[in-house]
Amino acid sequence: MKCRACRAPAVVEIRRHNTTLCRHCFLGYCRNQVGRAIRDHDMIGPGQRVLVAVSGGKDSLALWDMLLDLGYDADGVYVGLGIDGYSQPSADHARAFARRRQARLVEVDLRQQYGYDVRSGAAADHRAPCSACGLSKRHIFDRAAVEGGYDVVATGHNLDDEAAVLLGNVLRWDLEYMARQRPVLPGGHGFPKKVKPLVRLAERETAAYCVLQGIDYQVEECPMAAGNRHLGYKEALGLIEERSPGAKAVFFGQFLERAAAALAGASAEAGGAVLHPCPSCGAPTSSELCAFCRLVERAGGDPRRRVPVSGR
Ligand code: FES
Ligand code: ZN
Repeated sequence: MKCRACRAPAVVEIRRHNTTLCRHCFLGYCRNQVGRAIRDHDMIGPGQRVLVAVSGGKDSLALWDMLLDLGYDADGVYVGLGIDGYSQPSADHARAFARRRQARLVEVDLRQQYGYDVRSGAAADHRAPCSACGLSKRHIFDRAAVEGGYDVVATGHNLDDEAAVLLGNVLRWDLEYMARQRPVLPGGHGFPKKVKPLVRLAERETAAYCVLQGIDYQVEECPMAAGNRHLGYKEALGLIEERSPGAKAVFFGQFLERAAAALAGASAEAGGAVLHPCPSCGAPTSSELCAFCRLVERAGGDPRRRVPVSGR
């Protein structure tokens, strides 16, 4: 098997592009896909500071690595979720990467900082663990970005993630969620801009990128996510992709091209909720107290603790 680009021995096959690539050309292909997503969707402007939401897994570490290689001013932020057997090794991978690249990693620990972990927060707020986790991470990423003076938060959502979320939204015809499912969410009203530069890369490709770049990452999936609906959608799309290589990219790409803008326009016309600063933490919210502060209070913690913006 030869590399289609340079004829050296190939190490990766990308079926949806009907191609095989050597290590050098594959790493270049990944960086090109990220660079193209950034350009096509106007994700990061010249001189802007980026905060990468880092979990210690393949996607976020590959993203951080590529942004640094592409010359972006990118720091990382890691949230310690207090999940036994999972959070510690995840943090170790994030720290090891930051050390190796001499990059700055901002760390926030839910237990130390706010007095709860994902399991206790979920129980206290009567939510599924993944919902408490998502709410906590979104809040902390936003606050860390706003308080740290970053222009953009970048997350490691890849093509498989986005296609699976879209499938879930389509199965429910949840137009409101579909209107917000874009590779860029503009900032404003106290929210930072959020971008997903990996939307053109599949999960297999970010894993291969890490292996070929020698990046150690947390291979085990979060134990709380086992059996959740999102993973079911990913499996279903995986079966379709197996029979029709490229189906996932077409499904999500054509949604962006043909439907996303119209849906976003309709939802903007309908008008959003009126936002004001949460009296406890200052984050924008439409309710009296923001959802994060309600969770922290129910879990017995102190929501007024600020997100520290110091890093190692
Ligand atoms: Fe959030 Fe598992 S990483 S619940
Ligand atoms: Zn709040």
